[in-house]
Amino acid sequence: MDPIQTADSVLNEALDAEKEVKDQNDLSLFYNRFLSKKGKASTLMTLMKEVKAEHKAAFGKKVNEVKASIVSFYEAKKKELEQKELEEKLRKERIDITLPGKGNLLGRKNPFYQIIDEVEDIFVSMGYQIVSGRDVETDHFNFELLNVPKDHPSRDMQDTFYFDAERLLRTQTSAAQAHAMLENAEKTPIKMICPGKAYRRDDDDMTHSHQFAQIEGLVVDKGISLANLKATLELFVKKMFGEKREIRLRSSYFPFTEPSVEVDVSCFSCQGKGCPMCKDTGWIEILGAGMVNPKVLSMCGYDPEVYSGFAFGVGVERVAMLRYGIDDIRRFYQNDVRFLKPFPGK
Ligand code: PHE
Repeated sequence: MDPIQTADSVLNEALDAEKEVKDQNDLSLFYNRFLSKKGKASTLMTLMKEVKAEHKAAFGKKVNEVKASIVSFYEAKKKELEQKELEEKLRKERIDITLPGKGNLLGRKNPFYQIIDEVEDIFVSMGYQIVSGRDVETDHFNFELLNVPKDHPSRDMQDTFYFDAERLLRTQTSAAQAHAMLENAEKTPIKMICPGKAYRRDDDDMTHSHQFAQIEGLVVDKGISLANLKATLELFVKKMFGEKREIRLRSSYFPFTEPSVEVDVSCFSCQGKGCPMCKDTGWIEILGAGMVNPKVLSMCGYDPEVYSGFAFGVGVERVAMLRYGIDDIRRFYQNDVRFLKPFPGK
């Protein structure tokens, strides 16, 4: 066959084959057949030697045209198939942003901790330090240094979990008082609160738990009086339960304070008129307090002739229950998210 005709037939063959190219695989077969090293278009030039001298230029031009046509198809098809593949991929992997989201379940702070945060804020604003005590205490710090010797009857009410004769789970955050005073080597003034857990051998019921939390407060300085204690607690109660609240001190007994008081707040449910919440008395008991017993001061290295102080202990769950109208202390520990829902948190 005349080489020019051969070139034409290769072009025609390619044009036919082009119609059959549907995907990448077809395209690479097409490439092998026409454009690879031994492909039909690539080898056309080898026919040059059979072409007469006067037709060589025309033949060369022809071959170049045939090749250019096939290459341009190949390039265009390649692009087209790649684009198609990309579109297909995008279509398959498309994310429907109109679907409703899953929503993030944000946890909430247990009201128990919200109360601790609030109490801390109030006392920090009055210049108190926050100290962390220890849950595992010694008999010495939990009782002896607080003027509760071994045979003291008040130990009955504060039976607890013992590891051995000396080590126990503290029954009151008051143990932190003795630590604060003893650890203060310079015997400088103290103003601290200590939030933490306390443990007692209580039967668990609506208002009692073998584990609960208290916030201890201690102020030791020269010239501290019961008036300072009253003013401090009044401020605390107003910030915690509202400006209209009043407090009332009733005399009481704690071995480590003298005099000791039980502090009531005017009922915020009935404004003092009497209701089930305050058992018709108009007052709700919220904490124990008193002037640090001089015996405790001197056992802890403070000269009671020079220094005086006050201490108080607030029940965290009790405050939270009153504040939020929670009926059962056990709810704080049950980890039920339904319980947490209504509390706004910060
Ligand atoms: N520790 C006492 C209790 O648990 C409370 C208290 C603390 C009383 C500080 C007076 C002073 O009941």
